[in-house]
Amino acid sequence: METPIGAHEQVAILDFGGQYTQLIARRVRECNVFCEILPYDTPLPDLRARRPKGIILSGGPASVYEPNAPRVDPELFMLGIPVLGICYGHQLMAHLLGGTVQPAAQREYGRTLLTVVHAEPLFEQLDFHLTCWMSHGDMVQTPPPGFIVLAETENTPVAAMGDLQRHLYGVQFHPEVAHTPFGMHLLRQFLYAVCGCKGDWTMRNFIEESVARIRAQVGSERVLCAVSGGVDSCTVAALVQRAIGEQLTCIFVDHGLMRAGEAEQVRTLFTQHFPSRLIFVDARERFLQRLQGVVDPEQKRKVIGEEFVRVFEEHADAIGQCRYLAQGTLYPDVIESGTRLAAKIKTHHNVGGLPDWMRMELIEPLRYLFKDEVRRVAQELGLPPEIVWRQPFPGPGLAVRVLGEVTAEKLAIVRAADAILNEELTRTGWAQRVWQAFAVLPDVRSVGVMGDQRTYQYPIVLRVVHSEDAMTAEPAELPWDLLLRVANRISNEVPGVNRVLYDLSSKPPATIEWE
Ligand code: XMP
Repeated sequence: METPIGAHEQVAILDFGGQYTQLIARRVRECNVFCEILPYDTPLPDLRARRPKGIILSGGPASVYEPNAPRVDPELFMLGIPVLGICYGHQLMAHLLGGTVQPAAQREYGRTLLTVVHAEPLFEQLDFHLTCWMSHGDMVQTPPPGFIVLAETENTPVAAMGDLQRHLYGVQFHPEVAHTPFGMHLLRQFLYAVCGCKGDWTMRNFIEESVARIRAQVGSERVLCAVSGGVDSCTVAALVQRAIGEQLTCIFVDHGLMRAGEAEQVRTLFTQHFPSRLIFVDARERFLQRLQGVVDPEQKRKVIGEEFVRVFEEHADAIGQCRYLAQGTLYPDVIESGTRLAAKIKTHHNVGGLPDWMRMELIEPLRYLFKDEVRRVAQELGLPPEIVWRQPFPGPGLAVRVLGEVTAEKLAIVRAADAILNEELTRTGWAQRVWQAFAVLPDVRSVGVMGDQRTYQYPIVLRVVHSEDAMTAEPAELPWDLLLRVANRISNEVPGVNRVLYDLSSKPPATIEWE
């Protein structure tokens, strides 16, 4: 079976539903090794056919002795492929191979002191006393036959174990989180010293392979590429352009849900940096019409996704011989739109929002990439910094930042507030330091007073977050005087707003966008 990305060496991550599974994948990629997250019950022949250099068993919420606990076929450990179990994966390995697992007398959570007992191979070149991140209720009490203890903590006798002959390893702590400072070293030791990886996952290789793949797929047909001006779609456009040159036509749909001045900016940016043809569609009226009366967030995304496809197909028909639609779907979009194991959080419009009746076939060269990888590809392709470092902006645009029904009046309010926030952040140098900054318009009104008159108007919520890859996020600690200035300006300059709030929620439990 071919990997989705080419003939790279790769590692398979079997997902037991752990909250850090995506983070494990990112860390492995940072070690220049391609990896893919697969369901824990992927049949062994399928797994073997991918010829992974190693297998990582993720953490997960279950206990190994629960009747329906997710498990793997014990044959997995006989394939001769190195395995690293993390947290639940570590316990499962111990349980299936004859060790004992039991509830810990004391739950270990947070930073924990770890003592290395046997350094080779995972802890080589490290101190004997280390800090790691623990989060577990069960623990391995005795390792299976053939295994030795590699590290322990005060409460966990088998914090790391290994069978050095069979190349099977387990760690109770989480090497993938930043709170385990030596975690990357441990993962690198597993990937390079144990699995024998060479590290062939580089963005330059990725570009060459994607270009060849697109050429082979498209042949002499034409491709329509949906661009929004963001880094994902521009990177796709640049890749497809490199692959098939004049067979590419780009399309920008102004759905009227863009930020202030954005449609014009995109048009200028595009003509400056892309040789391919750009169709600029003014679809503001039709999107607004379709959104009339739509209040449910998922329904909104669906309506917008469908309307996009309608516009794309109309133009593809006009171009002729245009069977393919290229778009900038990323790995987290795929994951968050719901896989069999990961619950659906929201339908990213370019994944689950596509209608069944769509005729065009998709080209999604970034489908297995994380955002930081896309930015590196964009740099490698020579895209300008204003595209590479552009804040992410959702496909459904301001429609998911206007809660409840989307109207022209509400869009004008949120657009004006957003412009003030971003103007002030740019002026003070904060715009480059945060992942995203935007305004949200909730569907409520409250009483205020202005010029001795009662007002009954909307609040604006400011959402400014730090994030590494949008899978998690924290609110930015903006200076108080900056927040006050933004708040004053919004209430003074944006008609219809009498209150400004700052969103202090992290993701999880919130998401970055409000819908
Ligand atoms: P959430 O709100 O799920 O967002 O925490 C994570 C990141 O994804 C962006 N986002 C989208 N991007 N199409 C996109 O291209 C979408 O439908 C979509 N919804 C959310 C969001 O802005 C954040 O960066």
